Amino acid sequence: MDAREIRSILNRAKIFEESSARAQLDVLAARRVGNLFFEDSTRTRVSFTTAVQRLGGTTIDLFGTGSSVSKGESLVDTALTVEAGGADVLVVRTKPAGGAHLIAQHASVPVINAGDGRHQHPTQGLLDAYALARATGRQDFDLSGLTVAIVGDIANSRVARSDINAFSTLGARVVLIGPRPFCPPAIAALGCEMSNDLDAWLPKVDAIQMLRVQTERHTGSTPVTRRQYRAGYALTCQRAERLQNHAVVMHPGPANRGVEIDGPVADQFNGEGPRSIIREQVRAGTFIRMAVLAMALGR
Ligand code: CP
Repeated sequence: MDAREIRSILNRAKIFEESSARAQLDVLAARRVGNLFFEDSTRTRVSFTTAVQRLGGTTIDLFGTGSSVSKGESLVDTALTVEAGGADVLVVRTKPAGGAHLIAQHASVPVINAGDGRHQHPTQGLLDAYALARATGRQDFDLSGLTVAIVGDIANSRVARSDINAFSTLGARVVLIGPRPFCPPAIAALGCEMSNDLDAWLPKVDAIQMLRVQTERHTGSTPVTRRQYRAGYALTCQRAERLQNHAVVMHPGPANRGVEIDGPVADQFNGEGPRSIIREQVRAGTFIRMAVLAMALGR
């Protein structure tokens, strides 16, 4: 998507946010949304469900465990079964990259990617851009002039890829920071600056998005030990003190406290110094997903 398309979604999300969180809307009245989560989720699944409820629709919920996927049924067959059962749109999270795209090639209804392997997590990129813009007073969702660091296991992060797309398209300068095994040279093709030196960048950034180390996606032994990772790349309380006062701290979740981020840094909502907007990211997820669902169904 180009900047105009992204801003169109973010502006719709803003309208939903401002139209009172408690109001019951009928945008998805008599519509059913199939939530197909073949990989675990808390934030994305809850916020899609909440978004559907706020828009007056209903959900058909299916998870990898407890469905016939465990008997060997394919992703596509499972998705088409839910569609045949009456779903008007499918929200899909898969372990393999390309899962949502594959399903979309066979389905007759819109398919929304809720995260596919290491590849992309588009609504996360949108909600992160929304939360960042709101926290930095960018009412027009123009992120020009902001320097944003994305720190950690870039190689295995679908969030990083979607954030890079969203942040840089909206004008931000994006720098990817992590140990060499997590920042392979091919990542440079995404068009960002890269660094292995978090400490050098701390005083220069306006926002810092900390990523979870995706051990479940590592093949073989973990390439960086926990001790090495903490020493070089964790946002500890000491490191957070070196951020600019106006800087915001982000994390897409789930966070591993004491690994990539210290608990007090993640919890710092107010007061002096850098501010955590992690809860605001989660909150933004509902409004972004309301906007995306409404657009997918042409409402
Ligand atoms: N950020 C994110 O996708 O979190 P969940 O895996 O909990 O949905």
